[in-house]
Amino acid sequence: MSELNLVLLGPPGAGKGTQAERLVEDFGLPYYSTGIILREAVANGSELGKQAKQYMDNGELVPDELINNVIAERLDSGEADDGFLLDGFPRTIGQAEMLETTLEGRGRDLTAALLIDAPDDEVVRRLSGRRTCAKGGHVYHVESDPPKNDGVCDQDGSRLIQRDDDKPETVRKRLSVYHEQTAPLIDWYEGRGKLMRFEGARPPDEVHDRIRAKLAAKRFEDEDEQ
Ligand code: AP5
Ligand code: MG
Repeated sequence: MSELNLVLLGPPGAGKGTQAERLVEDFGLPYYSTGIILREAVANGSELGKQAKQYMDNGELVPDELINNVIAERLDSGEADDGFLLDGFPRTIGQAEMLETTLEGRGRDLTAALLIDAPDDEVVRRLSGRRTCAKGGHVYHVESDPPKNDGVCDQDGSRLIQRDDDKPETVRKRLSVYHEQTAPLIDWYEGRGKLMRFEGARPPDEVHDRIRAKLAAKRFEDEDEQ
């Protein structure tokens, strides 16, 4: 079976984390969300966290040098040798080039960049109602996907919190950063024949079904070519 080397691309609140949970269950891939990694680093007060905090609080991207090393280490660790799912990385052309070079250097290739798109007004609505599990990062929404018990994660019983960067003014800043610095990756991956587009405004299960169907079709194609 061919490797699945995947990245999830899309604006804040499009549903990258929501779909990642499902895809990890489907394919058992090691999952690297740079947002979760950075929030943990901030919570632990590590050197990475100290350097990242200000950028994150302002809704800006942390510098490429800081995050590229984090991902390169994970890809070098051996645990991602049979495939991986990246969420929130790459987010700039510089990060995408680093990923491409790292994979090429190991005779590997990206399978697909999964773009989950959603309009800005939908993003603002979703993020104002998002609740996140303080431990595992599991994602809920107070209206569209509430937990069984208020404020408690269904999966591991930990507390649900509101992310610091989900304040409306920070969400607006994150959206403008996305359009300026990350959206150019759509054409970049399209030009390399790697882009798969999904409408994130559809219900989560529907988005998930479509991703699975497209990945299955791609795997058949790849196996035919071998
Ligand atoms: P990160 O944590 O990656 O945040 P983000 O990209 O802004 O995306 P979100 O996690 O907010 O949204 P999501 O798409 O995962 O949506 P979710 O599934 O939760 O990054 C945070 C910060 O870290 C950045 O601002 C930056 O500072 C830094 N950073 C991270 N990576 C970096 C990098 N590579 N380079 C530099 N800096 C970096 O869903 C949202 C809500 O909608 C939930 O409530 C959910 O229940 C609901 N929902 C989901 N899908 C649906 C649906 N289909 N229909 C209805 N509701 C839905
Ligand atoms: Mg997320």
